[in-house]
Order: sequence, then C-alpha cells, then structure tokens
Amino acid sequence: MITIKNAHQLAKMRSAGHLLYDVLCGLREVIVPGMTTLALDAWASERIRKAGAVPSFLNYHGYPACICTSLDSQVVHGIPSDAVTLDEGSILSVDCGLILDDWQADSAFTVPLGEVPDEVLALIAVTEQCFFEGARKAVDGGRMGDIGHAVQSLAERHGYGVIRMLTGHGIGRQMHEDPSVPNFGSPGNGIRLRRGMTLAIEPMIALGDYAVRELDDGWTIVTADGSPCAHYEHTIAITQGEPEVLTLPGYAFPTTEPDAAP
Ligand code: MF3
Ligand code: CO
Repeated sequence: MITIKNAHQLAKMRSAGHLLYDVLCGLREVIVPGMTTLALDAWASERIRKAGAVPSFLNYHGYPACICTSLDSQVVHGIPSDAVTLDEGSILSVDCGLILDDWQADSAFTVPLGEVPDEVLALIAVTEQCFFEGARKAVDGGRMGDIGHAVQSLAERHGYGVIRMLTGHGIGRQMHEDPSVPNFGSPGNGIRLRRGMTLAIEPMIALGDYAVRELDDGWTIVTADGSPCAHYEHTIAITQGEPEVLTLPGYAFPTTEPDAAP
C-alpha cells in the first residue's frame, strides 16, 4: 500500500531527513584511510543516538549494524567489521538510516579513499547525477517509469551497468514501503506519482555488468564481474512543485531554461 503523507507528517520526515544529512556530513568528515568500517559504524551509532534518534538498520531483518559499508565491487549491505580497514585506492559506499519521532530517513553516498582511477571517480560522479536526473522526475502526475528511465539513460550513455536486482522504495513510518522505485524503466509507464508520496531513490551503478550475487554472509551484494559499483541515495517528497530532497536541506533543482522566444 502506498501511503500519502500530509503536511504535518512531511514536516516530521523533513526533520528526520535533515538530521540524517547532518549524520552523513559527519561521516564524510571522519572517514580516513586506515580506520575500520566498524569504527565508522560506532561513530554513526553514537551520533544518531545523541540526537535522540534510532538507527533504523540495526536489527532490521537481523542486520547487525547501524550503517552499511560497501567497498569497491560491493554494491550494498556490506557489514561493518573490525577486520575491514579502509584502504587507499578503494571506493566506499556508506548507507545509513534513522528514525526520528517515528519517521524514517534513508540516504547513501560513495567516496574515493585516497587516489582512485579517473574512470572510478567518473562512476561516482555520474551515479550522483543519475539520482538528480531521476529525482527531478518525481513530480505529481508523472509516472514511476519516468524516474527509472532518467536514471538508466544517463548511466547507460556512459556504458555503465544499472543494477536491477535492487531498487529504491517508498519510505515513511517504515523504512521500506510501497512502491518499488527501479533504476530502469520507460517514460509514461508504471504507477502514477502523486504529491505526498515519499520515496528513497537510490541508483546503484556498476562500471561493468549489472549482474550481482550475494556473499555467504547473507547480506553483502557484489557485482558478479567484480567491477566497482557506486551507490547514491536520498529520501525525497513529491510536492505540488519541484520535488523536495528531504535528506539534502536547501537543495533546489536547477530550473530548465525556457525556450528562447522565436
Ligand atoms: N538503505 C538500505 C535500503 O535502501 C537498507 C539497508 S538494509 C539493512 O534499502 F538491512 F541494512 F538495514
Ligand atoms: Co534505501
């Protein structure tokens, strides 16, 4: 069931989103080569709890940590560990979610650790751009396929693989609500988008093929061909006008130039 949020509920989701933004900014600052992914998790856990919020990933279907830390060919759901050190030359995706006052926010980013090849930096940049291209299609009266198509066409124009096995999702009182938000699709297809819907849009884009598999830990998803993968996610709200990126306070979508008068 798709839940439509009223202004009061959106205000609560905005508060959760803005807090998560602060947490992710802090995480970006504390990430340093040589630290363990478990230390990063501990930092996030403390930051979230000190703010009076609850880490939403912890114990979710038995997930054992507050954040996901996915390195290189790991797509998502990498489990923080004191045996995993952040090494220069890798890329790290950090995914984090929290609950504030009963309302959820979910967001992820990918960063290079030290020097990484230009083609991998480009993968990270384009994955972020894929989010914004998709998110700007999240408008009242649009279709779900408009979002997926925008993500997919930008990624595939660069020759990248769009992960299909995992999708974005509705979000609200629950972390995962209807509808599913695929990163592929065709314009004008899929469910109708309506104001008051809140979605986690999360492109997962591989340098190589889109096929993935799960590791024996039962969580970590990796690319089947071992190619690096980037992940970028925000929680957004569909409004009367431009979408609101709840986990990116103050963000405004660039207005498209009106066609020059003849
Ligand atoms: N942020 C992830 C998502 O977008 C959820 C992490 S799953 C968990 O779906 F089990 F780690 F919580
Ligand atoms: Co998500």
